[in-house]
Amino acid sequence: MNQAANTSTESPGETTARIPDTRSGAPAARDIDATLSARLRELTTAQLHQSFDQQGSFLYLEDFLPREYTERLIDAVHAVTPAVNRNYLPGHKAGGSVSRHAIDKLAPFIADLYRSPALIGWLEAISGDKLQLSPADDPHAYALYFYTRPGDHIGWHYDTSYYEGRRYTLLLGVIDDSSCRLDYELHTRNDAVPDEPGSVQYPPGALVFFDGDKLRHRITPLGANEMRVSLTFEYVTNPNMRPWQRFISNMKDSIAYFGFGQVFRRKAGKNGSA
Ligand SMILES: [Fe+2]
Repeated sequence: MNQAANTSTESPGETTARIPDTRSGAPAARDIDATLSARLRELTTAQLHQSFDQQGSFLYLEDFLPREYTERLIDAVHAVTPAVNRNYLPGHKAGGSVSRHAIDKLAPFIADLYRSPALIGWLEAISGDKLQLSPADDPHAYALYFYTRPGDHIGWHYDTSYYEGRRYTLLLGVIDDSSCRLDYELHTRNDAVPDEPGSVQYPPGALVFFDGDKLRHRITPLGANEMRVSLTFEYVTNPNMRPWQRFISNMKDSIAYFGFGQVFRRKAGKNGSA
C-alpha cells in the first residue's frame, strides 16, 4: 500500500539537511520538504493568493522550483521513458503519459515531491482550500506527459473533477525544447466576468496551478524535431467518488492516457474486479 518513495533511509539521529537516500542518491522526503519550505518562504504568498482569486483560480509562476529539483525531474524523465504509454485520440489528443504507478517504481523522487507537506500547505494558502492527496488508485495523482512526435498536443478541455469535491491541477515544466504553448481562458464558468484568454510557454521549473473545473485550456501541437515533458500533480478537496463517476473516469484514463493495463489491472489487484 505504501509507496516505495515513503521508505525513509534516514538514520534516527540525523536531522541536518541533505541526507542522501542510499537507494538512488536522491534526497530523502524530509529533506525535500526542508528545501521546498525555504523556497516557498521567498514567495509573496498573500499576494499570489489574491492573484489566484482575481484570475478565477489560476496562477502562473515562471520561476518556481529550485534548480536542483528541476534537474532531478529531468533525470526522472530519463528513468521513466521505457514506461511511456502513447495515445492518439483523433481531434483531441496525441502524446505519451507515465502514470503514478510507474513513477512510484522508477522515479520515487516525484512521489516525495507530491507529498511534501510544505508544498501542500503553500497550495492551500494559494487556493484557500484544504487539500488532500488523490486516492492511491488515481493514475493522475502524479503523472508525466510526453510530447515527442510532431503534432503531439491536447485540445481544449477542463480537468474535470470526477470527485465529490474540487480537483486542483499543478503543472511543473520539466523539459521544453518546443514551440508548444499552454493556451487558456479564464473566467469561462463565471458569467459575471468576461472571458480572458492567455497563453504561456512554461519553461523547466515553472508552475501553473488551477482549479480543473474552471480553467479551459489546451497544449498547442509540437513541431518537428521538438520535445516537451511536463509533470502534473492532482490534489482534491474530497477524495470520494460515486461509482458511475469512477467508471467514467477509469474509461477516460484508459483510453486517453495510461492504457487499460495501467488503470484496470491496478484495480483488479486492489478490489478483485477487473
Ligand atoms: Fe488539462
